Order: sequence, then structure tokens, then C-alpha cells
Amino acid sequence: MAPHDIELRRGRYAKLDAPAEDDYATPTRRSFDSNDSSLEDLEEFDPLNYDAGTLKQKRSTGDLRARRASFKKAEFVSEKAQQRRKCTPSRLCGGLVLLFVAATVLLLSAGGIWAWKSAPENGLSPPWYPTPKGGTDAAWGESYKKAAALVKQMTLVEKVNITTGTGWSMQMCVGNTGPVPRLKFPALCLQDGPLGIRFADNITAFPAGITVGATWNKELMYQRGRAHGLEARLKGIHVLLGPAMGPLGRLPAGGRNFEGFGTDPVLQGVAAAQTIKGIQSEGVMATAKHYILNEQEHFRQAWEWGTPNAISSNIDDRTLHEIYAWPFAESVRAGVASIMCSYNQVNNSYACQNSKLMNGLLKDELGFQGFVQSDWLAQRSGVASALAGLDMTMPGDGLKWANGNSLWGPQLTRAVLNGSVPMERVDDMVTRIVAAWYQVGQDRWRLQPPFGKGGPTFSSWTDEEIGLLHPGSDDKTTGVVNKFINVQGEGDDFHGNLVRRIAAEGTVLVKNENNFLPLNRNGWKEHEKAGKEMNYRVGVFGEDARLNREGLNVCPDQSCNEGTLASGWGSGAVDFPYLIEPVSALRAAFNNESVYVTDWLENKLPKEKEILEDQDVCIVFANADAGEGYLSFEKIRGDRNDLFLQKNGDKLIQEVATGCGRGNGSVVVVIHTVGPVILEKWIDHPSIKAVVIANLPGQESGNSLVDILFGDINPSGRLPYTIAKKEEDYGPDSKVKYLPNPLDGLVPQQNFSDGLYIDYRYLDKHDITPRYEFGYGLSYTTFHLSSLLITAKGPKTPFPAPRPSGLEPPSYSTEIPDPKTALVPEGFRKLSKYIYPYLDSIDDIKKPEVQTSQLQSPLSPAGGAQGGNPDLYTTMITVSASVTNIGVVDGDCVVQLYIAFPKNYKDDESGETVDFPVRVLRGFEKLHVEAVQDGPIQGVKGSEHGGGGNKKMVTFDVTRKDLSYWDTKRQNWVMPTSGDFGIFVGLSSRNLPLEGRW
Ligand code: BGC
Ligand code: BGC
Repeated sequence: MAPHDIELRRGRYAKLDAPAEDDYATPTRRSFDSNDSSLEDLEEFDPLNYDAGTLKQKRSTGDLRARRASFKKAEFVSEKAQQRRKCTPSRLCGGLVLLFVAATVLLLSAGGIWAWKSAPENGLSPPWYPTPKGGTDAAWGESYKKAAALVKQMTLVEKVNITTGTGWSMQMCVGNTGPVPRLKFPALCLQDGPLGIRFADNITAFPAGITVGATWNKELMYQRGRAHGLEARLKGIHVLLGPAMGPLGRLPAGGRNFEGFGTDPVLQGVAAAQTIKGIQSEGVMATAKHYILNEQEHFRQAWEWGTPNAISSNIDDRTLHEIYAWPFAESVRAGVASIMCSYNQVNNSYACQNSKLMNGLLKDELGFQGFVQSDWLAQRSGVASALAGLDMTMPGDGLKWANGNSLWGPQLTRAVLNGSVPMERVDDMVTRIVAAWYQVGQDRWRLQPPFGKGGPTFSSWTDEEIGLLHPGSDDKTTGVVNKFINVQGEGDDFHGNLVRRIAAEGTVLVKNENNFLPLNRNGWKEHEKAGKEMNYRVGVFGEDARLNREGLNVCPDQSCNEGTLASGWGSGAVDFPYLIEPVSALRAAFNNESVYVTDWLENKLPKEKEILEDQDVCIVFANADAGEGYLSFEKIRGDRNDLFLQKNGDKLIQEVATGCGRGNGSVVVVIHTVGPVILEKWIDHPSIKAVVIANLPGQESGNSLVDILFGDINPSGRLPYTIAKKEEDYGPDSKVKYLPNPLDGLVPQQNFSDGLYIDYRYLDKHDITPRYEFGYGLSYTTFHLSSLLITAKGPKTPFPAPRPSGLEPPSYSTEIPDPKTALVPEGFRKLSKYIYPYLDSIDDIKKPEVQTSQLQSPLSPAGGAQGGNPDLYTTMITVSASVTNIGVVDGDCVVQLYIAFPKNYKDDESGETVDFPVRVLRGFEKLHVEAVQDGPIQGVKGSEHGGGGNKKMVTFDVTRKDLSYWDTKRQNWVMPTSGDFGIFVGLSSRNLPLEGRW
């Protein structure tokens, strides 16, 4: 499939996208905020709005060691990057040449067939200029007015200070911007991440995104966002670096899929939007990341994997719209304040300087009003990224970590003064950031020192109370950096309760033969008891049932798979405040007068098999871990190497299944995993009665598992991905690219030639039977669906209404300021490696004579408001159905709506057939439906209600966008008006009892 079907304007694009000379000049450093945080102010700090939980609790774990280790890693990366900094694709030099000569010789001698391409292809991604200005959407109108009033008063250096991070580990958070003390605009604190607050104490380790996706519960998605946002606010964090919705999960082994919500754009989009609304309801800016197509860890970043450039994800325009950009569109529609552009390239242009993606898709078509920040070191050019729509560079460092050489900072100042970047663009960057700050109400937060006592209440860099204020610099000033504020909530609002609920609802029961589960706390169930004199004997097996014996937080960013798995690793992991061990929770749940529990908490079973043979029931645990690519564990460099259980998990399960009760025992398998795992080696074993996929539960692991196994909560988790029978069943394009192909030249290439056909869309198309399909999961009760009703709200029409015109964005003087205003003021104290906006000298700056105006790319007919043309979200049909609980216990039912586009549909104008997936998810609702009467299943609570109420109605609003495809020629969403849509309502992507047409 060819990249974008849009006409390319090669020459102009190539020029804009090429790093400008300026980007590589050595910047100068000077102090901007010489009178920043005084020791006294920090010490007197007392937390805003929060008295209840201000317990002063010090962390007792060995986290610091871990922190340091991960920091070291960053430094190591930088060293490498530095040596090779100037060796950009366009100028091969010294070591690099040698490297490639060596590689060439090696390849030749190995007899490989290869071709050599000396430079990455340019111009494969269409240009889109200039950057659309923020301030066009009425929902942000007030915030933009206020922002404009403030920005009007700022000088150029003050503006630049807001756009540029101060450098890795220069202040308390993983990202920190420069303040404008004169106008009391604060330094913003940006902190990871999607499942809790990284590098912080007394916080909550929530279930990972994938577990949240598996709940299919919109309310819980919102509540988790809200609790997370509250924790961030109380720690003084302005911008939370989550939720993650890219990677979407195209590659089942992708290392960071666990941070997102599942391999479907609608599930991912709903969960992302709910999370964002939750976070921002607490006054904290959310970040939708990673924009976009960062589907694998290998080669995600230049130099991190030895290649001079990051991988290029090559995609066609339709797939981009219908799959990967969809959750971002939903995020923008939810009003997200920030979006993080990703490390990788897209169609051979870095995501953080890709004008089609940022200017075109995000800011024009999707009407994004907030600001785009770069992933950490994902910015690869100065001028080009500014013109392509980047608004903030993180962490401020440029091509390498923590050396003080920013691509912006002083370079952006210079670029404005010499006319490379229009004043308008910088004004828009700053206005977007300041407007986002107003939009969530942070102007009401307490002022930062020296005016007040606001600011972060924790340090990312130490666990001690007193620590360096600028650890990345040579400055030795210390102060109180950790306040140890407990932000975990209290009483009914204790966030652990929410964690437990989410993890239970995110646990998917995939096998339950003869209703083996739920277990009975007293052991034998009534009907099994006959003739059983002995105690009920339970054996618990596997290292995943216990804690890591070395401690909870001993590995940097959780980058090891030791003990029970409750989180993946990387920046999307946190220090566990505590972790409920599965085996202990199980022991506590069983009545120890009638149940005898033994355990073997290793994956290698002992030689003597009594422990296995003397059991009635064996509960065996196994797992599969993955994470972010800057850390690796046992040859897993971020992405998994296969889809099997790790640490001999399959073998353990097989042995337990064979040996348990001398072959007469019943086996329950519990799996903690970052994503799909292949279960075929044992799934049909006759002893294996039940299997639960518990995903990544977070800190309440054992408790949530017990809730499900004993039926305190009726399982309602559904798979947010397909579990195939073998890895090949996901399709030939579903493999991580683990090695660069010499044919790719300097940029590893990853073609998304699977197009729309990922996960269930691929298996459906090729009629491959999965082991467990997307959307699948069992309950302890049975639901019956009936009474499908499809109501049209109007006739089918092919196009959305014309794009509405928005508000006028704020305007400022476009005049280039006097360069003298950019000089470092006298007497400022400068910190080494700290990034400031000032210039040391302005001698080489020539004011441009005339500013050339740029051509305007055509505005998208699909744009016009946040999330796109508002008419795309007009309801075209409503679909309703009834759900009856025909079982004997209450339960939650996830009702899913899938749509099939008209068969053999041909485009009216061109007569070309448009290809569609068999079915696509377009909506879901989780309903609590009571049973008719109390049930005889023992151990299941919650069916006290009796009589009536066992039937509920569910309604879905189906929008124009839901019923449209992206037409690359018209550059618009088009709804087929001939032929019928198939409308399916059911309990999974392959269990769809109700079918209608429209
Ligand atoms: C940092 C992470 C970052 C990674 C990138 C690590 O040292 O802790 O925040 O994502 O480097 O390589
Ligand atoms: C990760 C981001 C993260 C950032 C800051 C990067 O390496 O990709 O997800 O937010 O580091 O830690």
C-alpha cells in the first residue's frame, strides 16, 4: 500500500523538514530564574486543599537505588548520542562510516543480499503548513481570552521559557518548564504516567491501562482518571503524562501495549476519553500519548538501538484515520490539554516534526486546542519541529540527554530573531500552553516561590526529605524536596478500593468447566461433599503467586519479572506503596478449619511430588512481562520475544495439570500478563477446569483475584485483545521488527501493510478461529439478548455538513523584537546544563528584511471543532436491545455493538470497490442485571434482591463517523448510502446473537 494518497510537494517539504543549520550550533546558557525556589519557602510548604491525608510517611524501600540506576541509563544513552551527534543522515562522518563499512563487509561475507541506500528517503509524508492557531473552539474561548491577555505582556525570552524544558533532572519532575516570574506564570511540572505517579511516595499503583480496558466499564475508567488526577494535583503536578493510547496493540508483543486499553480504536478511544475527563476534572492537564504509530520499542529512538535514526512507521492515510488516530480524535473531543508526539518517524518524517500529523491532522482536522509536547528527546530538529506544530520540547535537552544543549531554548530565541520561525508561531505555542493552564483552572493554584508555597511536593530524584534542588546541574543547593504527602485517599475514598474494583472487573474468566468456579471458602461445595471425609486440600503453585523476595521496588521502573506481576515496566510504572500477595490473599480467604492450603511458590517443582499429588485443587500462577525499551530483562528489550508465558510458565502449568491429585485434582490457572499469551500447550488439559486472565492488577492484586475466584464479584471482564492459537494467526505483519534490515539503509522501516486488519479484524477477514476472541469473557451467570430495535434519525447522506468556522484566534504583533531584549541580563546566576532562553551574544543575528508568508494548505472538510467536524458526531441511528439475566446470580453484562459496512460497496464517483473489515466495534455498555431469584451457587453473594429487575434495556447512539470510512481522495469521511449496514449486538466479537440491517 502506498503511503498517503495525497499529492506530495516534495521540494518544499524536504526543505522544511531538514534540520536547520541553527539546530546544531552550540547554544549559550544563562540563568533565567536566578531567584527561584529558596530553601525557606520549600521548607515551610504545606499542601494545598488537603489536610486529611497529610501523613508524613517516609518510603522505606530501596527505591533510590533504582532511581539512580535508571538515571545512569539516561546518561549512558547521552554519551552515545553525543559521540555521534553530528553524524546526521545528510552528513556521514568518522565513526559512523567505519561502522557501516564494517557492517557492509560483514554482510557481504555472510553472503546476504542487500542494497545500500545512503540516506533516508525524504518527502514521503505530505507537507501541511502553517500551524493552525489555537483559540478557534468555543469550548476554550474564555481560556484563550485570558491567555492572550497574559501572553501579550510577555517578552520573547519569557515566551521561549514556557516552551522549553529546563533539562533532565534540573527540577523535581521528569519534565519542567521555565516560569515567567514577572507575570507569576509558574514552572510547570510534568510527570509520568499512565498508571500512577512515577518516582513518588505515598501514591497509588493503579491497574495498568490494559486491565482498565478489560473492565469495559466507562464509569471505572472515569473514576480511575479522577483519582489519578487528584493524586497528581496533591503532589503539585500540572501535567500528567497519560493516558497512553499509542501503541494501540498492532503488534501483540509490543512492549508498551499494556499502558493502553486494548487493540481496538473504539475501546481505546472511549477509555482514553473517560480517563482524560477524570484527570482534568481534578484540575490536572492530561496528555494523550504517544502520537503516533509508536507500535514497538525496538528502534523507537535514534541511537537507543544503535541505529542513527528511529524506525519509520509507514502507513496509508485511511488506516491512519480509521485505526490509529481514532483514539486521539476521541481524546481531543474530550478536551485533552496536551498531546505527546512520539519517538518514531511516520512515513520517514519524525513524528515531532511531521507537519502532516501535527499541523494537518491534529490541529486542523481534529481541531486540537491544547499543546503538543515532545516525548523525551523525540524532538530531532529545532526550526522544522516548530514549523511543523510542536509547542513544547521535553525535557528541554536536545539531541542528547542532560547536556544543556537544547534544540529550542536559546536556539528558538535565535530562530525567531533571524526570521526562521515566525513570531506568530511562538505566540501560538505559548498561547496554547497558557490557555490549557487556564482551561483546567490552574490559575487558581497556589503561587510558586518566591510568591507562595506552591509547586511539586516530591522529588523524582531522591527519596530523602532534603535533597538537591537542581540535581542535574553543578548547583549544590539543597532544600526540602520530599513532603511525603499521602495522596492515596482515605475512608471510602481510599483509592485502593477503586484499584481492587477495577482489577476484579478487569479479570477475564476464559474457561470455567462445569461451573468449577467460584470456589467455596469452606472447601467442598454441597454437591461435591458426598463421601468426602477429609479437609479440602488446596495447593498454590508458581512464583507469580508470591511477592518478589528482594522487595517491591528493587528494579528500576519495575524492570524485572520477579514474583507476582502487577505492572509492566518503564516510565509507565510506579513504586508500589504495597502489593497484596495472591497466595496470602488466598490463604486468608479460605476457611482454615475445613481447607488445608499448601504452596510451592517457585516455577520449578520439587522432585518429590507429594505436594502436587495430595491436592484436591491446584491453583497455578504464571505470567508474561514487557515494558519500555530503555530497560530490558532477561533478553526482553521492551517488546516481548514471543507470546508464550515466561519463566517456564507453560511447563509449570502442564506439570501441575498432570500431577495435581494424581491426575484427579482440579486445576485453576491464573495468568498475569501485559497482553495476549498463547495458551495452547495446556488449555484443553482435562484437569484444567478454570482459567482467569488477570492482566496487570496493580497494588490490590491478591484481593481482586479472591473477589473473582470466590464469586464476591461476578466476573465481567472481557478480553481487550484476541487470544489466538498461535502467533502466526495474528498475521504476517504482526511481528515486532527485532533487527534492522540492511535494505532499509539508515532508517529501519516498518510498513503497516496490514492496513485495517489488525487483531480481530485480521482473524475475521481470514476466517481464523482464535482461542478466545476479542470481547470474550465468561460470567457466573447467563445473559440473554433480545428485542433488537434500530431507529433511524434521518436519511443516509454521504458527507458531513460543511465545516463550521470557528472563533478568531488571538492575534499579536508579528514584529520581530529587538535582539537586545534576548541578551542575558546582567548579574544572573547560571547553573550548568540548565536550559535558559537567553542569548550570550547577538552579533551574528541579522534581522530578516521581509518576512515571507507561507502558503496555506487547504483546510480539511473533516475539521471544524474538537475531534473533527461536529456533524461527524451526529447520531444517525440508535440501536437498542434487552438483556435478561437468565442465570441464578446477579452479574454485569458487557453488551457490544458491531457494525458491518455494506457488502460489495462501490464508490459512487470512481466505481471502485471499497474494502471493509467483516465487522468493527462501535459501542459497548456494561449493565448490572439482577438474577430472578437467589441462586444455589455457593459462595456467590449479591443475589439478595430477588424477583423482577432481571431485564434491562441498552441503547447505543451510532454516529455518522461510526458509519463512515475515510476517503483518501476526498479527504473526508464518507458514509455509504447504497447497500445495507449490518448491525450486530452481542457478547463478544464472535458471539453476536442479534442482527439487523440499516
Ligand atoms: C527515563 C525515562 C525515559 C527514558 C528514555 C529514562 O532514563 O527515566 O523517563 O523514558 O530514559 O530513554
Ligand atoms: C516515554 C514517555 C514518558 C517520558 C517521560 C519517555 O521515554 O516514552 O512515555 O512520558 O519518557 O518519562
